[in-house]
Amino acid sequence: MLAFPVLPTRPGRHRRLTLTASGKVNLALEVLGKRADGYHELATVMQTIDLADRLTLEDADELALTTTSAEVPANADNLALRAAGALREAAKVDRGVRVRLDKRIPVAAGLGGGSSDAAAVLLGLNRLWGLRWPLARLAEVAVTLGMDVPFFLRGGLALGTGRGERLTPIPGTPLALVLVNPGEPLSTAAVYGRVTPAMYSDGGRARTMTEALRARKPTRVAASLYNGLEAAAMGVRPDLVRMRAALVAAGALGAAMSGSGPTVFGVARSFEQARQIRARLARASWGCWAVRTVSGPAVRMRAA
Ligand code: C5P
Repeated sequence: MLAFPVLPTRPGRHRRLTLTASGKVNLALEVLGKRADGYHELATVMQTIDLADRLTLEDADELALTTTSAEVPANADNLALRAAGALREAAKVDRGVRVRLDKRIPVAAGLGGGSSDAAAVLLGLNRLWGLRWPLARLAEVAVTLGMDVPFFLRGGLALGTGRGERLTPIPGTPLALVLVNPGEPLSTAAVYGRVTPAMYSDGGRARTMTEALRARKPTRVAASLYNGLEAAAMGVRPDLVRMRAALVAAGALGAAMSGSGPTVFGVARSFEQARQIRARLARASWGCWAVRTVSGPAVRMRAA
């Protein structure tokens, strides 16, 4: 992975950074209830993985984005561009950026790819524009972009409470995972819109997961996987049941949906076994990845 460089404090023109922005899985996700502000109260254990997008940020006068992905909007709806606009406004800077986004993480997949890209833009522009803001101040902008964005400013392994944005780092253990994605996006808001009180739980499963991670036992982690949004997502995508069953049939110790789906992931005994499971599952209609968890930052950068 790339190291953090020390850049000159006074930024010049035409400076450029390249960044990697990792996705995440939710090892546990519990919906505790509905809040007065319309969001849901969560207890979720989030873990960065080594499936990552690549971004290049280049100092410019305007805000502009180009992307390799036809599924990502290249206009003002793009979360990475919105991040740049929000930081420009909050920091009252008179500068722009050209973002080049090489998309590797599936879009609207429950893996937080768009949120990680947004966090990468905040961290990158903090350097490029010479702002020197602490992470806590960047987090105030991050949360206006989406509840997952603050997590990606640090990454690693964390318990998220509130709307998912209140973070407590937790100790973990390296894991090898297999991701399976059906190749079609799923709207987060649509999944949350199907949540009923029968799907609420009390936070005990997130606690069980943190204990399993502390015990550093992949078998215990696999047995503790839980996602309270699965029933809601399966209402929209019944094939999630088949994807989860296929992971277990191919040798995964356990499997669950990530975030609001539709990606499903399984825990393997080792990275070698994750690759074997991936090979067994690879079929034309599903995207499959063998990945490792990442304990360090979700966003890494270097001057280019
Ligand atoms: O935070 P983000 O913008 O990604 O959330 C997308 C949608 O998911 C929200 O507009 C809301 O409908 C739903 N959501 C929720 N409770 C949360 C997080 C998201 O209901 N804790």
